[in-house]
Amino acid sequence: MSDIVGRTIHATFFHAPTPEALQCLEAVLAVGADGRIESVVRADEAGFAQACEEADLTLPEGCCVLPGFVDCHVHAPQYPQLGQALDVPLEVWLQKYTFPLEARYQDLDFARTSYTALVEDLLASGTTTALYFATVHQEATRLLVDICLEKGQRALVGKVAMDDPQSCPQYYRDASPEEAVAGTRALIDYVRAHPANQDNRVLPVVTPRFIPSCTDAALEGLGRLAAECGCHVQTHCSESDWAHGYVLDRHGVTDAESLDRFGLLGRRSILAHSNFLTEDDMDRLAARGAGVAHCALSNAYFANSVFPLRAALARGVHVGLGTDISGGPSGSMFEAARMTIAASRMLETGVNPALPAERRGRPGSRVDFVTAFHLATAGGGQALDLPIGRFEPGCLFDAMVIDTRLREGGIRLLAPASPSDILEKILYTANRANISRVWVGGRAVAGR
Ligand code: GUN
Ligand code: FE
Repeated sequence: MSDIVGRTIHATFFHAPTPEALQCLEAVLAVGADGRIESVVRADEAGFAQACEEADLTLPEGCCVLPGFVDCHVHAPQYPQLGQALDVPLEVWLQKYTFPLEARYQDLDFARTSYTALVEDLLASGTTTALYFATVHQEATRLLVDICLEKGQRALVGKVAMDDPQSCPQYYRDASPEEAVAGTRALIDYVRAHPANQDNRVLPVVTPRFIPSCTDAALEGLGRLAAECGCHVQTHCSESDWAHGYVLDRHGVTDAESLDRFGLLGRRSILAHSNFLTEDDMDRLAARGAGVAHCALSNAYFANSVFPLRAALARGVHVGLGTDISGGPSGSMFEAARMTIAASRMLETGVNPALPAERRGRPGSRVDFVTAFHLATAGGGQALDLPIGRFEPGCLFDAMVIDTRLREGGIRLLAPASPSDILEKILYTANRANISRVWVGGRAVAGR
């Protein structure tokens, strides 16, 4: 496993800078000392032959390079219950399984074991950037920051703020709105002053869990803090009938409008789920430059709905994908991308076969593998306002090698295939075993 910082690599690269544009480039990329791509010399450009000869690393046939995946919604502490407890409604699941599990992160040994396994597994699965909810705890959240820095994952980490005694159990909540805000500020300071974080590989995130778990005083304080510190914001938005209805009852407006009133809707805000966004909400998000973390797999279990992805994209909303570990029972962004496609097809088709075909679903809802690939990479980068997910000068070299030759991998190339066919097959059939190397900012972080 070798770093590619300050070196050159000759390979076939796939990326999708827009939801419609799949590009396959044979090229030589130069990566600078800062982990950013300095130059891209394509096969049809002058100087390519010489660049190939001088390349520090040349990948063999059967291998190609994809941008690393950007997972825009992960509950780091929920990894131990991945693939469990999926048969109750959201509000029951939180109280019965999830808050008790998250409360265990008071125990730093437990936190260390669990967070180390998560970060290692996600890196090996090609997730080079993750937007993490941690827990309410200061120390365990700092530990997650430390582990991301140690393992080299690009990460955005939030101490969860949840202070409302009406909805949060006494054993697992911030003691007051002031504590929720002060704890968040302390994490921001910790991340920004971290001696191992000079390249800002880890960023702090203001993280009100969702409106039902926060008092208005906490939401107000967190909105002010986000403006003051200029950092990212993450929360859940209009996830299920219950969550959506709760905010309508309490604030008389949708989640998106309420978050906006509290100053929590800006260019660096990422709203998980957002299934019940109205058209006005979508316009509001687009105007603010806020993004949605679309969690298609989790939605199937907890949301009573399918996110109207194509409609949101058409209205200019930034969208990335999220696994929503553990609301979604897979940490793989391959699965997130596949479920994004499947959910969009089901939304288009509808569920009532008694209706005439043209009235069964929402026409024009489907997305294809190119859009899903874009959302899992460059789209996530755009939503997070980070230069990742594309192989262009100035972008960070966060990437993975897919080796299609491996027998234990999922993908099989048994007949001639065009570049587009190959990427389609990778997206639909590859698995973790096909990922032979992973780099973040040019630094090798996983692989053989
Ligand atoms: N809403 C509030 N907390 C959570 C959570 O942990 N997971 C999901 N899916 N939704 C939430
Ligand atoms: Fe979630």
